[in-house]
Amino acid sequence: MELNELVVPALWVLTAVLVGAVLWTGDGVFRYFLTVKPLVTVVVLGVPLLAWALQSHPLLMLIHISGAFLFVGGHAVSALVAFRLTTETDGARAESLLDLSGYGIVWLHIGLAVLILSGIAAGFVEQSWDQVWIWLAIDVLLAISAYMYWGNSGGRGYNAVRKRLEEGGTAAWDEPETRRLVDRAQALRLTLTGTAALLAITALMVFQPG
Ligand code: HEM
Ligand code: HEM
Repeated sequence: MELNELVVPALWVLTAVLVGAVLWTGDGVFRYFLTVKPLVTVVVLGVPLLAWALQSHPLLMLIHISGAFLFVGGHAVSALVAFRLTTETDGARAESLLDLSGYGIVWLHIGLAVLILSGIAAGFVEQSWDQVWIWLAIDVLLAISAYMYWGNSGGRGYNAVRKRLEEGGTAAWDEPETRRLVDRAQALRLTLTGTAALLAITALMVFQPG
């Protein structure tokens, strides 16, 4: 029995667990795109589906890499805001920065969906499903997404600060507990884990081990 025949089924189980974790931690995000932005959802689903129907590998790669650019571009807003917030002293400006970051999150999700769906379609066109690298890439992406959702829910992170500013007004920004939720340590944690995940997935794509 080859190693792949043992590792790939183990990765299926891990994938199922991580899909559950994303659905649980991501909570309202899928409902939001289906109900509030149905047109965006149709386009995001339709474009990779069309390229798959054409069985075009180059077209899928164009969509896949454009999705990656869109994801990174959209998410760069939140990454920069995270560090800018650590030196912000004005509550109203902190609120505006969080607003901007929230807007970036919409584009992050559109890019991420295009990236994943075109990757899955390319997996069928290239028949890569018996290989370790494609499952590992999916699992790393799911794991880091679940971590980002978890870190921003249940009284943690940027969403918790939004809630505090909503309830207590911009004066809530002056409370040390509010600032601690989005301090430099938090920004660094997300940068380290997020960058490591992005590098690992890109390496899996390029070297395709297993
Ligand atoms: C941060 C996330 C990702 C980035 C930056 C990325 C980037 C890339 C790049 C640059 C290539 C071209 C590689 C080459 O031809 O040498 C590629 C190919 C591919 N990617 Fe991704 N990718 C990501 C996530 C994913 C995911 C989650 C999947 C699985 C659903 C996936 C599936 C594929 C497939 C099947 C190919 C075609 C490989 C081949 O030509 O045999 N990618 N990706
Ligand atoms: C593959 C890499 C990454 C993925 C898949 C990812 C995914 C996500 C997702 C899905 C969210 C939304 C959470 C929510 O709506 O509650 C998020 C939030 C966030 N991420 Fe990432 N992320 C990645 C890398 C990074 C990096 C490198 C940073 C650098 C600082 C970062 C910083 C943040 C911040 C600050 C937020 C909160 C933004 C806000 O609520 O305004 N992420 N991430």
